[in-house]
Amino acid sequence: MTTDGMLRLHTLRRGAPGRLPLVLLHGFPLDHRMWLDVTDLLPGDPTVLAPDLPGFGDSPAGDDVAEGLGAPAGTPSLEVAADAVAAVLREAGVERAVVAGLSMGGYVAMAVLERHPDLVAGLGLVDTKSTADDDAARARRLELADTVLAEARVDAVLGMRSAVLGATNRVARPDLVDRVEGWIRDQGPAAVAWAQRAMAARPDRTAVLEAFDGPAVVVVGEEDELSPPAAAEHLVAALRDAQLTVVPRAGHMTPNESPEPVASALGGLLRRAHG
Ligand code: MLT
Repeated sequence: MTTDGMLRLHTLRRGAPGRLPLVLLHGFPLDHRMWLDVTDLLPGDPTVLAPDLPGFGDSPAGDDVAEGLGAPAGTPSLEVAADAVAAVLREAGVERAVVAGLSMGGYVAMAVLERHPDLVAGLGLVDTKSTADDDAARARRLELADTVLAEARVDAVLGMRSAVLGATNRVARPDLVDRVEGWIRDQGPAAVAWAQRAMAARPDRTAVLEAFDGPAVVVVGEEDELSPPAAAEHLVAALRDAQLTVVPRAGHMTPNESPEPVASALGGLLRRAHG
């Protein structure tokens, strides 16, 4: 299958020419807007590109209208998503970039690194992990995919509006709970199901990190319950040249709960990637 035209690429910021662009991959079940808090804070005036992953945000639903709801084309897989990211970047004239992703976006970034290593000048892993799901987690994802398709609504994932925040911000930042809920409600059930099935099928990519000798940053909220600090330490141990940022009083959505340290870590990664 071809992945050309599968994704919509957003230019969040047009920076100085001749610099490596920063590509930001969003988490589940969100879209590029989750990166906007970080974009303006990034030092070094980089160009910032953010695709919407298959079926999310402004990306087309595709031609596979499974269950009549519209779904991204093809078998759900993060490899398809990674190839689509590489294709949309190539189409935009980008041959090399610093690639960073949050959670599901991190899984896709690791798949891009495995399948398109020449593209990746630096790697940013934010609130994510390199391990695969266990059987129980995989079964929960497949059930959730069936539920959202059967209900033709995304209500079954609305619980994530607070689960993605840290214990502190669940109470202190009702504005963020509302914002995340709005982003989730804007997504379609077919995209949610596709992504759940794709994530259920993902392999352990720790060995991909072990083989990468470029610069990397790992960022994690100290209150992240979905990809906890232990998962971040596992990433740092696998990478040869990684710096770790643990963000205090933040959960899984560090780019929104505490954008400054995330921008600073990604800015440092860009500097290191330029050498
Ligand atoms: C995300 O934030 O992208 C999700 O927590 C990823 C996942 O479900 O593993």
